Amino acid sequence: MNTSAADLSIPELLQATMQAHIAGNLDVAAKGYRLLQGLAPDHPDVLHLSGVFESQSGSRERGHELISRAIAIDGKQAMFHNNLGLVCVRMGRLEEAERCYRRAIELDPDRFDAFSNLGVLLGQLDRLEDAEQEFLRLLERVPRFADARQNLAGLYLRQGRFSEAIEQCAKGLVTDPRNPLLRRVLGRAYADAGLIDQSLELYRKWQKEEPDHPEPRHHIAAITGENVPDRASDDYVLATFRNFAETFDAKLAQLGYRAPALVGESLVELLAETPPKSLRVIDAGCGTGLCAEQVAPWTRNLVGVDLSRQMLDRAAAREAYDELVEAELVAFLQTRPACCDLLISADTLCYFGRLDEFAAAARRSMLAGAWLVFTVEAHDDGEGQPDYRIYHHGRYSHRHGYVYEVLAGNGFGDISLREVVLRQEGGKPVRGWLTRARVPQGAEGHE
Ligand SMILES: C[S@@+](CC[C@H](N)C(=O)[O-])C[C@H]1O[C@@H](n2cnc3c(N)ncnc32)[C@H](O)[C@@H]1O
Repeated sequence: MNTSAADLSIPELLQATMQAHIAGNLDVAAKGYRLLQGLAPDHPDVLHLSGVFESQSGSRERGHELISRAIAIDGKQAMFHNNLGLVCVRMGRLEEAERCYRRAIELDPDRFDAFSNLGVLLGQLDRLEDAEQEFLRLLERVPRFADARQNLAGLYLRQGRFSEAIEQCAKGLVTDPRNPLLRRVLGRAYADAGLIDQSLELYRKWQKEEPDHPEPRHHIAAITGENVPDRASDDYVLATFRNFAETFDAKLAQLGYRAPALVGESLVELLAETPPKSLRVIDAGCGTGLCAEQVAPWTRNLVGVDLSRQMLDRAAAREAYDELVEAELVAFLQTRPACCDLLISADTLCYFGRLDEFAAAARRSMLAGAWLVFTVEAHDDGEGQPDYRIYHHGRYSHRHGYVYEVLAGNGFGDISLREVVLRQEGGKPVRGWLTRARVPQGAEGHE
């Protein structure tokens, strides 16, 4: 917005503000929307776009209110209903979201994004047949809609319907051969179906076309066992969670995801005698902040650290963290010596193979008597088992004895690992170790 805002008409100012919004100039956009709301408080487009902006900036209630006001003034705009649906999903109001999408489709049967959003939502609500029908109907009308193909393939994958998942991805890749989401689901579907050679071939082709892409590199290492990284690269984690942040909570709810609740259970046992609101807590790999409510009773100060900006944005919307830091967690812990009374990490160390650097950095950041509570995925401890393994899905699992040894070797005491089920995947339980360990009372601080 180079011209002074005062020189612009409402439509011109709205246009310039929208452009700043799309270009990611968020300060300029925020100013523009504020100005517009003052100048034209009942303009439906101003209310609608301000609402979208607010909800994306974390103020979902305010976003919901603004878009609802736009609809009260002009209820015939399918886009308003569709976007209100998206805000409802972010707020966890899934039934209301369904009504919004259906209304959008009723007003404009060519609103394909609303159809697709409805399909995703029905999947989240576990109405798998309804979701499948929505996607199939949509794809009959718009066969090139890659997002819908990938979502339908994901729906099949979730139900163990591998050949149908493979078929959908293959169809999508005919018209959109480099689509990373379709490639991701296809690689996974092949491997889940036991077609490891096809999976490898897909990743190798992908790598040839995009040598710097982190996903094929990581999955080729996972499948071949060659050049397995000590932990998933930052780029791989970022690519994995970039598109996942929006739907993370809902998707994991479907999978019976329990890691944060399990960490919470441990805390109830360990901290029974701890005065409320007395602990300085670090949540390492905080993601969208699902652990925040688990630690809330004991938290005096809560710091979340995560690599993914998109996940942190969702965590910020909870307004539960005193500080959110965009960083690699080991590097971050190394910069914060002797600063916390409790360190938690749910479902994040499954992106690590070696745990020694993490354990050393954690120990260094923790005060005497502090507890460390985390989950990792589990494999058996029998003869000849490796300390950690990486699976074709890209996550690592750990041997009980290895986790114990690494913690003991880094000065932790009171170590215990409990076998738990972290979530269901493809209808099968994912086993994990719910792990706790403590810095001995009276231990030297590490400076
Ligand atoms: C599966 S999510 C779990 C999030 C949260 N703890 C929960 O239980 O809902 C894993 C998170 O770990 C983050 N992550 C993975 N490796 C990381 C690393 N080395 N440093 C910082 N964050 C990491 C990812 O960005 C992602 O947000």
